[in-house]
Amino acid sequence: MDPNTSGLVQKLAEAGQPHLLQFWKELSPEDQQELFQELQGIDFLEINGFFKSAMETSSSTRHEKMDGRMEPVPRDVLGSVTRDRESLKDWEVKGLDCISQSKVAVLLLAGGQGTRLGVSYPKGMYDVGLPSHKTLFQIQAERILKLQQLAEQKTTVKCCVPWYIMTSGRTMESTKDFFSQHKYFGLDKNNVIFFQQGMLPAMDYNGKIILESKGKLSMAPDGNGGLYRALGNQGILDDMHRRGVEFIHVYCVDNILVKVADPTFIGFCVQKGADCGAKVVEKTNPTEAVGVVCKVDGRYQVVEYSEITLATAEKRSSDGRLMFNAGNVANHFFSFSFLRDVVQKYEPQLQHHVAQKKIPFVDGQGHLIKPEKPNGIKMEKFVFDIFQFAKTFVVYEVLREDEFSPLKNADTQDGKDTPTTARHALMSLHHRWVLNAGGHFIDENGRRVPAIPSLKDGTDLPIKCEISPLVSYAGEGLEELVKGREFQATLMIDERGVHELVKNGV
Ligand code: UD1
Repeated sequence: MDPNTSGLVQKLAEAGQPHLLQFWKELSPEDQQELFQELQGIDFLEINGFFKSAMETSSSTRHEKMDGRMEPVPRDVLGSVTRDRESLKDWEVKGLDCISQSKVAVLLLAGGQGTRLGVSYPKGMYDVGLPSHKTLFQIQAERILKLQQLAEQKTTVKCCVPWYIMTSGRTMESTKDFFSQHKYFGLDKNNVIFFQQGMLPAMDYNGKIILESKGKLSMAPDGNGGLYRALGNQGILDDMHRRGVEFIHVYCVDNILVKVADPTFIGFCVQKGADCGAKVVEKTNPTEAVGVVCKVDGRYQVVEYSEITLATAEKRSSDGRLMFNAGNVANHFFSFSFLRDVVQKYEPQLQHHVAQKKIPFVDGQGHLIKPEKPNGIKMEKFVFDIFQFAKTFVVYEVLREDEFSPLKNADTQDGKDTPTTARHALMSLHHRWVLNAGGHFIDENGRRVPAIPSLKDGTDLPIKCEISPLVSYAGEGLEELVKGREFQATLMIDERGVHELVKNGV
């Protein structure tokens, strides 16, 4: 393990990164060993190439240019839960049919670092404080279980929805341990497949890799679009092929309302013959921090909120709605053959996006510095960067209150996308399910609670009500449990029955 004789010194010199060994002599033998192995595993010429082209692309894509090149999604590729009511049942039947034939897989993007939420563990392990204290992972696992059951009831044939979970170097071990401690939440362990996305070093504006300590590079996951490279090099595509998977639902970990493998969405995409589809919610506020699905230079893309000017974000169509209102909820549909083409042909064409960041670093004297303004970049690919290669692309619009409440930030007063908003969104949905199935809520005096929560003491807390996904996937099957009955919150319905827990505080 000598950096000189092994050729490492020369390799770094050629790549313009010799500073990575500047503290070598000060490191302990263990730290030397670790650094040596890390450096040996890196293709510096490739990384320098990524840096060069990412910087070129980011400086040439001026906001004004992007704005002028954008067009909204045309109506003919759009399906909508509100405007296409008459087709919903058909799409659902089609989707369930595909699921029952074990042709559908789900793929969870869980390699992010949860920086904004401020937790040191994977976001999927977060408990937003529901009455059941279920974590995001558990909720998603139980939705998969329920869906398998619903599909099986149709055919009486046993089916399986494999769950592929992408983690990163930082989240792999804790994610796997969590699943194993919880016995895979009742799923068959063989159908929960973990794989790891790649990492890339953070670089300063001159393309020098940043050291976060004397013996450690500053590394971060390569973005959720790191998926495509990982699918190939971790054998996941082969696994899907072996299992006969034809359609894949890809989604992000943070949305508490996510309809994992949503049969209606899948059925819609399959019936339209799509190779790629995106689920969206209507963006109603120009400054909301969601990307929008649109066409840029005639090709489908998601344009992130940071990439457009306010003037474009505020543009309205003749019906008064925002012109770019297809808000990306990070739920995507891919056919297996499209995914295979992406991995085998298109992935290398995807450019990294550049995020300017404040990256802690060690200076020439070995002191750790925490910069106050951005001092370098992280490079990321995005999962939706492949829309441009789709031959038949479709968009499916759903209702925000039914399907989208992401957990991004820690709780603060009036915060957006926090544990509190996520918890309230889920309880409010389940409250509506109970009402729609003919149940009622009463207060402590036995009076019926109005269906729409009123502003009381300056708060409009939702009724505390939680229904286990093991009982209902999307509000179905509740009538026999609640019709004509009156409940006092907290109401919990799970596989053991209907419980009223009379307690204070959400
Ligand atoms: C994402 C979408 C945005 C959308 C919003 C909705 C992307 C690039 N952007 O934004 O268009 O409006 O969700 O909530 O998809 N992840 C990885 N590996 C990484 C980085 C992230 O797996 O290297 C995963 C995260 O674990 C998470 C998901 O990707 O599940 C989204 O990442 P996040 O950084 O939260 O994306 P947003 O900026 O919120």
